[in-house]
Amino acid sequence: TAPLRLGIAGLGTVGIGVVKIVQRHADLLEARAGRLIEITAVSARDRTKNRDADLSSYAWEDDAVTLAQRDDIDVFVELMGGHEGPAKDATEAALKAGKDVVTANKALLAHHGQALAELAESLGRTIRYEAAVAGGIPVIKTLTEGLAGNGIRRVMGVMNGTCNYILTRMEDAGLPYDTVFEEARALGYLEADPNLDVGGIDAGHKLAILAAIAFGTQVAFDDVTLEGIGRISIDDIRRAGDMGYKIKLLGVAQMTGRGLEQRMTPCLVPATSPLGQLTGGTNMTVLEGDSVGQIVLRGAGAGEGPTASAVMADVMDLARGLRLPVFGQPADKLEAPTPAVTAIA
Ligand code: NAP
Ligand code: HSE
Repeated sequence: TAPLRLGIAGLGTVGIGVVKIVQRHADLLEARAGRLIEITAVSARDRTKNRDADLSSYAWEDDAVTLAQRDDIDVFVELMGGHEGPAKDATEAALKAGKDVVTANKALLAHHGQALAELAESLGRTIRYEAAVAGGIPVIKTLTEGLAGNGIRRVMGVMNGTCNYILTRMEDAGLPYDTVFEEARALGYLEADPNLDVGGIDAGHKLAILAAIAFGTQVAFDDVTLEGIGRISIDDIRRAGDMGYKIKLLGVAQMTGRGLEQRMTPCLVPATSPLGQLTGGTNMTVLEGDSVGQIVLRGAGAGEGPTASAVMADVMDLARGLRLPVFGQPADKLEAPTPAVTAIA
């Protein structure tokens, strides 16, 4: 079988992580996929930047759209980020040029997932995005494959490690929000726009994607009820603790009689529950199926290795010829969800 040839746009944390796995595990990947996985070409903004990997054998493109259209790639791996501009343009260009796409870009999918899915399927291509939700946790695969025989009742989770770090650090060290926020900034945890993290937007993007897969609906990020963690005080955390609860930025999606309810808001969870015991920058997703009951998945939601691990899961599926509809069922059959009116207590 011919090699699967990757073009990688974005050589930051995740992109370099993918390069390292492809280089380190070349034999393992080939044995598992039954064909060679090779990188043909790469792209980033600054060609002169010193990166933590040997890129000398790959062609370089300054422009991601040009990379996406190269004849010598089969899969376009989008790891630049952002939901407008090059990520969207290059993804569309790749699909139109007959490539499948792998992306870690939750913002892109939350805002344009439906249109991109319809474009991909109309062209006989697919988009895979395991890394976009909860980083290294294989939650998309679990929902679409492992739980394929279940009606999904509810999906929940802590999906932003930075917020979980801030909340647990406030609790453990008794430090106020502003101090811990600055600590998180110094540690490099915060996104370039910190409001994506602490405003709940990044986690909301992930919830919208997960909800669409779980309930067979179109991605509806605008219907997610969002509240970040910026107003939580150390007194709130202490009072919750006194009553046996922890405060978590928790995403919940469930189908109600009034439609799909999606909320990403600070919640009280029992201190002794798996969610209550989740500390630091870790993620947890809780899936409830009508046959299986409750499944709890816990792991790293970010970072070079974990996120690249998820990207590679998608690459390997494509190498093995596994071609599922983008959202688990054809995009043109997905219904726009009726947003539920969420009671605010
Ligand atoms: P990053 O470290 O900031 O790297 C971004 C890369 O994209 C850089 O190499 C940058 O080039 C390149 N880039 C940015 N804008 C570009 C443009 N206009 N044209 C060409 N290249 C451009 O980002 P990251 O953390 O790897 O994240 C990549 C994606 O993965 C994002 O969608 C992010 O949300 C998602 N993700 C990240 C994590 C994580 O833990 N980091 C986890 C889950 C999902 P230069 O290097 O030359 O500046
Ligand atoms: N800012 C995100 C987080 C990165 O803290 O979880 C991974 O999506």
